[in-house]
Amino acid sequence: MDNVYLALDDAALAAEVDRLQADVDALAAKGLSLDMARGKPSREQVDLSRSMLDALDSGSCLEDQGQDAANYGVPDGLPSARALMASLMGVPASQVVVAGSSSLNLMFDCVAHGFVRGVRGAKPQCAQGPLRFLCPAPGYDRHFAVTEHFGFENVPVPMTPEGPDMDVVEGLVADPSVKGIWCVPKYQNPCGITYSDETVRRMAALRPAAPDFRVYWDNAYAVHNLYDEGDELLNIFDVLAGEGRDALVYEFASTSKVTFPGSGIAAVAASPADIADLKGSFAVERVCPDKMSQLMHVRSFPDVDAVRAHMARLAEVLRPRFELVERRLSEGLGETGCATWTTPRGGYFVSFEGPEGSASRIVELCRRTGVTLTGAGATWPGDDPRDSNIRIAPSYPTLEELDAALEVFCACARLVSAQLAAEARGLR
Ligand SMILES: Cc1ncc(COP(=O)(O)O)c(C=O)c1O
Repeated sequence: MDNVYLALDDAALAAEVDRLQADVDALAAKGLSLDMARGKPSREQVDLSRSMLDALDSGSCLEDQGQDAANYGVPDGLPSARALMASLMGVPASQVVVAGSSSLNLMFDCVAHGFVRGVRGAKPQCAQGPLRFLCPAPGYDRHFAVTEHFGFENVPVPMTPEGPDMDVVEGLVADPSVKGIWCVPKYQNPCGITYSDETVRRMAALRPAAPDFRVYWDNAYAVHNLYDEGDELLNIFDVLAGEGRDALVYEFASTSKVTFPGSGIAAVAASPADIADLKGSFAVERVCPDKMSQLMHVRSFPDVDAVRAHMARLAEVLRPRFELVERRLSEGLGETGCATWTTPRGGYFVSFEGPEGSASRIVELCRRTGVTLTGAGATWPGDDPRDSNIRIAPSYPTLEELDAALEVFCACARLVSAQLAAEARGLR
């Protein structure tokens, strides 16, 4: 559908801008203060993990399969924690290290490993000259921040409904200064799409010029389905095994959005040779991980089915929020033809595309009208070239707050779209 504001004659468009401005002014007068900025679980969701806190008490046995959780040692994580994360990630437990409470932290550690020490005996990247990293965009701002922090040039790669544009990726990896790519293969942040089988196969078939290139496969939303029928992601390690490749992918996951964000357990998986290489750096940076948290998790979730049952309960809380976003955006903007958005079946985000030049203005207008959104451009490494993408994070507010925030969002998006149409004609 075409942008309806472009079809209005000058007088009608000017009148429409005034009417939409009055709508926004009326909403601003309510003095709202709502936050849709970050993808945090709601209190209601987090409370569903409280029983995990009862898994241990002062009388509990603090051993897991003969390993002491209450002291130093067991640097790769407790056996049951490795088994649990391995079955979540679809890899053998021997190829998994469970460490810390943040997968982003492990990603940082892996980038640091390549930068300071070198991947599998390669020259440390810090001594290799200009470095580049591929950033499918829209994508996750904290990924981009990690590689920017190490001085990589972040190179945007367009996202398609099937995943990153693989023609572009295949072209760019011919450059030996390209050392990796950020991927969120399931319920991507923020688009919510799951990579197609074809994308996974082409990713696994990459022949990068740099031997120290790795795919950072951040499977943060592996079990985060909103519906019983979830998206299916092809297991990239199975594809790699079929091709006899022993290196290419570092996979990450955590229970941040399963149990307690910031106090979950996190894991990295890689080929046997890659994981041995990574452990060389991990052994220097920590004596061992926090195994008490691992013990609490495995006592509460003895297997992946227990995790899935828990995720189904979390989905009951999250699903109405996503459905509200879809309904409100359809009602508020569907007839205007000036925006598109995704309708994910899992994950934490909806990706919104407004007219070119609208995103920063919508975000700023929402802020002045009482609604904080993720900053415009956050989903891009550097600036969003069209200034059109906004990440909607519906998980944290209550349904009532979300409803009010979406009313503001739609009113602001309509007004900015009409203003842009008017300005393009020199009317304002
Ligand atoms: C794609 C993605 N990866 C990683 C994280 C952070 O995970 P963690 O808490 O395990 O560091 C997030 C959080 O929003 C995310 O969206």
